[in-house]
Amino acid sequence: MAFEKNILCIGAGYVGGPTMAVIAAKCPQYKVVVVDVDKEKIRAWNSDNLPIYEPGLHELVKKTRNKNLFFSTENEKGIRESEIIFVSVNTPTKTFGQGAGKAADLQYWEKTAREILAYSNSSKIVVEKSTLPVRTASAMERILNENSKAIHFEVVSNPEFLAEGAAIQDLENPDRVLIGSRETPDGIAARKTIVEIYVHWVPRERIIESNVWSSELSKLTANAFLAQRISSINSISALCEKTEADIGEVAHAIGMDSRIGPKFLEASVGFGGSCFKKDILNLVYICESYGLEKVARYWEAVVEINEWQQSRFIQNMLTNMFNTVAGKKIALFGFAFKANTGDTRESPAIYVAQGLLAEQAEVVITDPEALKNARKDLKGFKKGLTFEPNPYNAVKGSHAIAVLTEWDVYRELDYKRIFKSMVQPAFIFDGRNILDRKKLFDIGFNVFSIGKAPLKHF
Ligand code: UDX
Ligand code: ADP
Repeated sequence: MAFEKNILCIGAGYVGGPTMAVIAAKCPQYKVVVVDVDKEKIRAWNSDNLPIYEPGLHELVKKTRNKNLFFSTENEKGIRESEIIFVSVNTPTKTFGQGAGKAADLQYWEKTAREILAYSNSSKIVVEKSTLPVRTASAMERILNENSKAIHFEVVSNPEFLAEGAAIQDLENPDRVLIGSRETPDGIAARKTIVEIYVHWVPRERIIESNVWSSELSKLTANAFLAQRISSINSISALCEKTEADIGEVAHAIGMDSRIGPKFLEASVGFGGSCFKKDILNLVYICESYGLEKVARYWEAVVEINEWQQSRFIQNMLTNMFNTVAGKKIALFGFAFKANTGDTRESPAIYVAQGLLAEQAEVVITDPEALKNARKDLKGFKKGLTFEPNPYNAVKGSHAIAVLTEWDVYRELDYKRIFKSMVQPAFIFDGRNILDRKKLFDIGFNVFSIGKAPLKHF
């Protein structure tokens, strides 16, 4: 059967994989190919053991795979045969040279652009899906269009706003889809072609068109604002702990102001994930490079508060466990950066585990989906570290539990049974405020939450 459109996606990660699975499911008349340089990852996408965990993803892939959704390592063939190429390769923070620790490392992006150019025999639309610094499209256009092949590339920005753990839901029912292009006739025609894909399932009024720079900057700004809300509420959580105000009550009260709204006001051990820190540092770097020092410092503070919140959590554990955790077994409940994902990138749990190991604690990590990644993240630590899928086994003989991911399973455990299997006095540090603290206190635990007065038996 001939397909109406041939779409390629370069990069089969957390963004590329789920996004293409949804496009393939919503548009059976399009052929969607996803390529990656990582052979192992592509093998996994073609198996029953997908490389990432997302609720609903497996079902979607099973429905579409090898019908109109294909996973492959053949970049060259994929590029040649497609009219539209989504690029969702990784853009980590640079670790070397100018801008190290802040700027985006664009080497994978540039390599991809050069590959597209080398293998193309016809004009194409190249869609930026990865989060990129403002004006990246311009650099890409230059690389792609300085060719002697008499072909033209139109670079369109279509940033992805999905949140992990809810990727399929967010893709199927997005708040908005943003498509930016140059405001030339060719640019506008290219963005209309991308609009045509999304209108298959997204109401037209939720598809926004803009110039390409606004689109690139909107993605960074959205993430910066979201992260800022978390740092704002976390900064107030510290004040609550000093004043006996309760962060849950404060968040509820301010969230009822319709101008503020109730979402993203959950105080926590800190935000993680591949985007927030990276995107803010990227924003900071861009501001610095335009001489906007004040703006740079303003946004940098969002990351600083987040780091402080994580170190405050460790300090709180130490202080309350009689200033030493050396030789004490501590169970970490959750390692993923949030619930419903196995992703651990920038997870506060990495920082907490490292801090406790440095204090010579015996750390036991449990998580329903993230143990494989946790092992990789902590591979430098051999002594005092174990991994245990079953939370009841993890807590046996431990002095403390630290809840680091808000998995539902941790709300529903039998804490009486857990208490009996622990060393006394038993401590719980709830870094996500998900447990019934009064009930735990009545069982006998000493309970420490974020932004609330502790419940102690001594
Ligand atoms: C984020 C953006 O939400 C998404 O739009 C963008 O495309 C990518 O970055 P993601 O990182 O997947 O998505 O997860 P998100 O739900 O935003 O959570 C990020 C971190 O903030 C997690 O560690 C989460 O636990 C934490 N968080 C979130 C809080 O600590 N408190 C909150 O109230 C909300
Ligand atoms: P994200 O969270 O943005 O989706 P990931 O790291 O999960 O980021 O995915 C990016 C993917 O892009 C990785 O699987 C990586 O192997 C892939 N990749 C990087 N460079 C290339 C390239 N030149 N060709 C194909 N795939 C690439």
